[in-house]
Amino acid sequence: MRPIHIGLLGLGTVGGGTLAVLQRNAVEIARRAGREIVVSHASSRSLRMAPEALARVAMMDDPFQLVAQPEVDIVVELIGGCTPARELVLQAIAQGKHVVTANKALIALHGNEIFAAAQQYGVTVAFEAAVAGGIPIIKAVREGLAANHIEWIAGIINGTSNFILTEMRDQGRDFTDVLQEAQTLGYAEADPTFDVEGVDAAHKLTILAALAFGIPLQFSACYTEGIGQIQPQDVENAARLGYRIKQLAFTRKTEQGIELRVHPTLIPAKCLLASVDGVMNAVLIQGDMVGQTLLYGPGAGALPTASSVVADIIEVARTLTTDPHNRVPHLAFQPGELAATPLLPMTEVTTAYYLRLTAQNKPGVLAAVTTILAEAGISIAAMLQQQPESGSYQVPLVMLTHPVQEQQMNAALARITSLPDIADEGVRLRVESLD
Ligand code: HSE
Repeated sequence: MRPIHIGLLGLGTVGGGTLAVLQRNAVEIARRAGREIVVSHASSRSLRMAPEALARVAMMDDPFQLVAQPEVDIVVELIGGCTPARELVLQAIAQGKHVVTANKALIALHGNEIFAAAQQYGVTVAFEAAVAGGIPIIKAVREGLAANHIEWIAGIINGTSNFILTEMRDQGRDFTDVLQEAQTLGYAEADPTFDVEGVDAAHKLTILAALAFGIPLQFSACYTEGIGQIQPQDVENAARLGYRIKQLAFTRKTEQGIELRVHPTLIPAKCLLASVDGVMNAVLIQGDMVGQTLLYGPGAGALPTASSVVADIIEVARTLTTDPHNRVPHLAFQPGELAATPLLPMTEVTTAYYLRLTAQNKPGVLAAVTTILAEAGISIAAMLQQQPESGSYQVPLVMLTHPVQEQQMNAALARITSLPDIADEGVRLRVESLD
């Protein structure tokens, strides 16, 4: 049988890894796919590959020409970003080619358009590598958990921010220094603010929420908050209270709507997710029938991400001859069955909170703070107050609250921080029990 021909767009970290995996594991891959799979064409702005790896690959300067090659069966898009990736993918689809991509921004922002086009032309667009690198999370949510109502998903799905938080906690290292290391190791995005501001995790969470709840992709409705405000003292306070701070991507279906949010979060130190350190990723899923399942693995890097890309290529190869209507739907639910469930604005989300305020060390300040919280119906679950450093007139007040709606907390915090004896805006982090 004729081998399946891959046209590879991009030979960077993941593109190079994909070529390596396809060549190194060619025999095992052919045994699984039922046919040989070869990279016949590739296009890349820069060439960092050993020439022998490309000996049987036709290199093309123009990626649009690659997409138009009649002998290419599957276009593998690994250039990242939305331009020209969107145009290339839509052109490939219009030419009847299947597409495999690792591009989370492309799927989160343009997935609705891309999947509609794929359905129209009867092709598959596969995107396992777009979320959590080497972890087969798309397949798990879309197929393995298909019997469940998914209630919520909590993920550590940005390796760079997890690496930074872990190094800050364990080694006391400086934020910038750790970020540079993540860039050198190839974990960070081309624009690393996407990692530290939560945008990369929001792209991935948008995809997971669509698969979990059968809703269209709605990246613009995802709330994001970065890790830049976290201080070593917050990491220490969290530990004293029995928690760890993680950059959590969280989506939950409630009666009022769907929560979609990425922000630093205190999670119980004893839960498995709290032990996910360094660049590793993990996704915890609560289904109504299965209970909790946890998938853990490398969320970035050349070979782990290529492992997911190649799994998609094999999957597409296996389904090449099936009727398009009998394939697994792109977003887990049949295209006509997507729900218009509203997404909940952040002000209407209910969570517990960690608060750190800097107060003048004098009588009545704590009473004034707790009075405002009591008037807002906010119950305090735990408190820490240490002695001020010698010579200082200021003292940090640290509290954990019971769950409360965000707008109530915002209103109470505005009153608290306008007290004359509260010295700053304070730090407010959300707390999830994950039970
Ligand atoms: N920049 C991403 C991360 C790479 O740090 O997780 C994988 O998407």
